[in-house]
Amino acid sequence: MATAKSKSIGWGIIGCGVIAPTHAEASNEVKGGRLVACCDVIRESAEACARQYGTTRTKTYTDLEKMLEDPNVDAVSICTPSGMHSDNGVIAAQAGKHILCEKPMDVSLHKIDELIAAAADNAVKLAGVFQRRTYAVNKQVREAIRSGVLGKLVLGCSYQKYFRSHEYYASGDWRATWELDGGGALMNQGVHGIDLLLFLMGDIKRLSARCRTLVRNIEVEDTAIATVEFVSGALGTIEGTTSVTPGMGCNTTICGDAGTIVLEGDKLTLWDVPGAEDGMATEQKDDEGAARDAKAGLGAQGHTAHIADLVDAIYNDREPEIPGREARRAIEVIKAIYLSSRRGGDSVEFPLSYEDDGPGIDYQAARSAEWDL
Ligand SMILES: NC(=O)c1ccc[n+]([C@@H]2O[C@H](COP(=O)([O-])OP(=O)(O)OC[C@H]3O[C@@H](n4cnc5c(N)ncnc54)[C@H](O)[C@@H]3O)[C@@H](O)[C@H]2O)c1
Repeated sequence: MATAKSKSIGWGIIGCGVIAPTHAEASNEVKGGRLVACCDVIRESAEACARQYGTTRTKTYTDLEKMLEDPNVDAVSICTPSGMHSDNGVIAAQAGKHILCEKPMDVSLHKIDELIAAAADNAVKLAGVFQRRTYAVNKQVREAIRSGVLGKLVLGCSYQKYFRSHEYYASGDWRATWELDGGGALMNQGVHGIDLLLFLMGDIKRLSARCRTLVRNIEVEDTAIATVEFVSGALGTIEGTTSVTPGMGCNTTICGDAGTIVLEGDKLTLWDVPGAEDGMATEQKDDEGAARDAKAGLGAQGHTAHIADLVDAIYNDREPEIPGREARRAIEVIKAIYLSSRRGGDSVEFPLSYEDDGPGIDYQAARSAEWDL
């Protein structure tokens, strides 16, 4: 296990699909990091990743356990289908490897807790990916809210209108399955905006929700809506869909009795806070992360920040910026939304118990039946 500052952190990628290049590139960009191994059950995928982002010494594996025996691998990025994250992570932790885990950390709370426990038991760092938390503009909004300039918080709303085609859902047999994707519009796409809402507004006390599969031929939800009550007393809404044209991305609106801030994507479009410094004038343009990520479409700059954070956490033996319990929060909210929907929109209180942690229902099958599930 690497802790000495003299040693660079050898990075291994587990799962060399769509998001893997972002991690591979970032592991090379970060001072103190280097890509040393790529693992995928499909040999060509591991080899292609190593060829493009590694050096001649970068090894490829089709067996994760073999990669974890490699002493040059100090840390791993878990980029496999979501429902495999905890299983992959637990054995990585047992092998003494530090972990950066893609969102969602897993698709059930008890699996996430197993991973958190395995990391603690084996004294390795565990960090979750939520790249939008790394953007300066989102940190700036959070600081403003915390400083109280919005007054009493009244509404916190996350509007997430995405478009994902039939072809997207057909592009991997794990996609849009309860078992491995853990859900649809919320668990895969909406998880980012929900995490951002929690980052800005704090925890939710209770919620009620409806999920539906309105357009796509998938078992998980393609559209969902929830009304929420935050611990602070503020109210809010979460909406998420992958079935509208055009996709409009994620907008976040935070209103207090003294002011309002609106983020369209990760750009401030309204900072109406009388008496406070003009946040739009001081918007932290030195941080180009959000803009670069929007262009790349997959969060390249945010991932670099995550890997830099984990490398620093390893060197300085501190918690990463998004430890396991933080990465868990949005998943608990999504699980509560699924539970409320299963119960016909009943109010669900936090925290959730493991009994409430099951998969959702097959909305596609339910479509022809009664809507009130
Ligand atoms: N942070 C983001 O913005 C972002 C973006 C895209 C995907 N993701 C997340 O990354 C994860 C992967 O998504 P993707 O779109 O890259 O999926 P993908 O299907 O393109 O890639 C997954 C890869 O894992 C491999 N794999 C499957 N089982 C494996 C095993 N046991 N050992 C090694 N490799 C295995 C597959 O062969 C495939 O190449 C998901 O959890 C997803 O939610 C995050």
